[in-house]
Amino acid sequence: MKGVILAGGLGSRLRPLTKVTNKHLLPIYDKPMIYYPIETLCRAGIKDIMIVTGGNSAGDFLRLLGNGSEFGLKDIYYTYQEGEGGIADALKLCEHFAEGQRIIVILGDNIVEDDISPYVRKFEEQDSGARILLKEVDDPERFGCPELDGSRIVRIEEKPAKPASRYAVTGIYMYDRRVFDFCKRLKPSARGELEITDVNNAYIKEGDLYYDILDGWWTDAGQFESLFRAAELVASARENERAAGTHA
Ligand code: DAU
Repeated sequence: MKGVILAGGLGSRLRPLTKVTNKHLLPIYDKPMIYYPIETLCRAGIKDIMIVTGGNSAGDFLRLLGNGSEFGLKDIYYTYQEGEGGIADALKLCEHFAEGQRIIVILGDNIVEDDISPYVRKFEEQDSGARILLKEVDDPERFGCPELDGSRIVRIEEKPAKPASRYAVTGIYMYDRRVFDFCKRLKPSARGELEITDVNNAYIKEGDLYYDILDGWWTDAGQFESLFRAAELVASARENERAAGTHA
């Protein structure tokens, strides 16, 4: 399966940190933000990775990551999103890269503690459809929030005023080839973006969206509070690794 990291957009919520550089190049404790989603995909055995970048300092991704040898990759594919048209707008740029295969998509500002391999294996066993990962959070109104009915997701609402559950839809999505058809049919939302939540709702309508609850900690890093929290979480993980003698 191929992997896509979405690192476009303008990072407006982190200005002035993102005035002259790209959000995904900012540090999270001891590494640039973009390292984390790359490592997450690599740990799950994904070897073909496309990075969609955009906004400021796009060339710095190449200088920083090169051909990906630091991560054990043979090469990394890059593309560029103009403007801030939304997550699904960035994903549209990857249709030719996917070549009709299934893909795993991770948002460039999402950081997870655990290896996601078990969820990827479950998706591989699915006949078709999509698989997303949920995490219980204190502030579901900041995210895509699912309404659950037993083991089914009935609907996902993007940044709901009244959340239907305590869960956030994390920025890790697995899709079959239909994802690009769904992306093409989207209309911009009230915030003027093509929303990944609308893509996921399209899979729900088809009765083909499945989910797991993510183990371990998860955070985004797109706002000052979450950027700071991400650094704290990684710092304490490093401390645990050092104590256990497992830090690389
Ligand atoms: O973090 C999980 C959340 O991410 C989900 O729960 C939401 O459903 C989903 O819409 C998204 O919410 P945000 O509003 O936090 O997304 P944000 O605009 O911060 O974008 C997250 C990443 O997506 C960003 O780091 C890079 C990528 N992106 C975003 C936009 C708007 C792009 O590649 N291009 C874009 O145009």
